[in-house]
Amino acid sequence: SEFTNTFLFEPEDAYQFLPKRGKRINKYSAGKVLTIAGSFQYPGAAVLTAGSTLHSGTGASVLVIPQSVKKFIHKKITELVVQSYGNDDCKFLTPEDYKALESKIKWADVIALGPGIGREEQTIEFVQKFIKKKDFKAAVIDADALFALKDILSKADLRKSILTPHLGEFSNLVNLPVEEIEKNIFEIGSEFAKQYKTILVLKGAPTVTFTSIGEIIINSSGNNGLAKFGSGDVLTGMIAGFYSQSKNLKEAALLSVYIHGLTADLLLGTKTEFGIVATDLIKNIPSTINFIK
Ligand code: APR
Ligand code: MG
Repeated sequence: SEFTNTFLFEPEDAYQFLPKRGKRINKYSAGKVLTIAGSFQYPGAAVLTAGSTLHSGTGASVLVIPQSVKKFIHKKITELVVQSYGNDDCKFLTPEDYKALESKIKWADVIALGPGIGREEQTIEFVQKFIKKKDFKAAVIDADALFALKDILSKADLRKSILTPHLGEFSNLVNLPVEEIEKNIFEIGSEFAKQYKTILVLKGAPTVTFTSIGEIIINSSGNNGLAKFGSGDVLTGMIAGFYSQSKNLKEAALLSVYIHGLTADLLLGTKTEFGIVATDLIKNIPSTINFIK
């Protein structure tokens, strides 16, 4: 039938997609993530995205941030390696920063790109350069990076990427009104993922993931406590974190979406939807993993 490619992601699926952590792994073989997120205007996005990579099991997590916010980041997270660009006045990414980041971009198993980088013209140019140069092994493309992707979409190679738009970001990317996407979500999402041979995580309630071979996977966890600034940034960090370990785009995307939602569900044991915030999600990723393990 029409829906033989449509699946509901359930608790049993999560366990099998958890990365295997061998006894003799080290911090590098346990996954290398480069997070390119945050800016002078949105430093919190960097903390949330990079923080989530650590709590998902990544061994080596490096965050790229303007020099002007480096101190702020280190006050928030101790375990990150922070690589800064620009000087003390630097507020956002420009294409000139690419050269200094190039070796780290090549080094990482995956790049988490986009949350809070802003939409300055020069930042858009940086993102377009990043996508065109293809120096990265894999990338999670989110938020402002999706905005920058729009103008080069027809030429972009997204085969090693996971795109994580919410409906508004996807609407902008494909030039269709949100209402039309909602009406034909399976067709439009599926066509997009097949056309660009990519993984599309279309965030909402529920989140639906589309693969390059036409699979459609509906998530079964999560609640409206997630409808707050910052929860999307956590998901982006989780996907990069799990991907750095499993090196499997589809498994990392599906596992992260599920654990992200389940973490919010488990938090209902002690909080209500009113009080769940992104930082709670990060702190509780480990107990959610314990729950499904
Ligand atoms: N039920 C279940 N899950 C929900 C619900 C809900 N009612 N509402 C939101 N979520 C989940 C989504 O599925 C997604 O995983 O919360 C997450 C929200 O992610 P984003 O929409 O990306 O939000 P976030 O990035 O945290 O917010 C800041 O909002 O307008 C944008 O550009 C702005 O990037 C900025 C972003
Ligand atoms: Mg977002």
